[in-house]
Amino acid sequence: MSSAQAVDGSKIYNEGGGDPAAIACATCHGADGRGLGPAGFPRLAGLSPAYLAKQLADFKSGSRDNPVMKPIASALGDEEVKAVVAMLSAMPSPETRHVTRVDLADSPGAVLALRGAWGRNIPECVACHGPGAVGVGDHFPPLAGQSAEYLSAQLNAWRDGSRKNDPNDLMGHIARSMTDEEVSAVAAYFAGLSH
Ligand code: HEC
Ligand code: HEC
Repeated sequence: MSSAQAVDGSKIYNEGGGDPAAIACATCHGADGRGLGPAGFPRLAGLSPAYLAKQLADFKSGSRDNPVMKPIASALGDEEVKAVVAMLSAMPSPETRHVTRVDLADSPGAVLALRGAWGRNIPECVACHGPGAVGVGDHFPPLAGQSAEYLSAQLNAWRDGSRKNDPNDLMGHIARSMTDEEVSAVAAYFAGLSH
């Protein structure tokens, strides 16, 4: 392949990268990029390219320690990362219910999501993740459109220290301040926004 030849993000996604260890992403993340909830495979469609590239770098460095994604991320070249994240961010986001901060917080998950638990320095999730948790800019990923399995796995990864890739321990602090019940409740709440 000549170096001038453009790297094809869709080809990497659907067929794999140049290194065979970079398995086709679609196998797990789905042809539509919406993941496979019960298996813990997250949605990637519509996420910011900078956020996606950061996660791939974090899997590679181990600051986000995951045995499935580490070999895959490590096998992608820089140009391949650029191409696949550009393609993913252009894929349509799933429809999610748009709640606002003034919505009724009528369950423990909704209370944490929309009001927080300031007594324990837990800000409301939507303060950073945006109204309806649709994500904000390059740093704050969407929580809506992800499964309860994936969301709780991430909160638990921060609690056990296997994920420590967030700036200033923002999420680590929050996750460690939460109880098991709160992790399940808030994960179910955000997963429920994408019916
Ligand atoms: C064998 C299944 C599998 C394959 C193939 C796979 N992934 Fe993943 N991916 C996962 C799992 C599982 C996670 C969640 C890891 C965790 O819990 O931290 C994940 C997470 C991610 C994340 C983090 C998303 C977020 O919201 O933070 C990105 C980015 C990602 N994968 C990109 C890719 C790309 C690009 C490819 C193809 C080159 C790929 N994955 C191939 C299973 C897979
Ligand atoms: C002060 C800002 C802030 C607040 C408040 C916040 N988050 Fe986050 N959250 C972040 C940042 C930044 C990231 C991305 C970290 C990284 O770079 O990987 C993140 C990532 C996440 C992820 C991983 C998403 C993915 O795709 O892998 C989950 C799950 C999450 N937050 C849940 C929550 C929940 C639940 C709450 C409320 C209890 C919350 N967050 C409140 C800043 C915040």
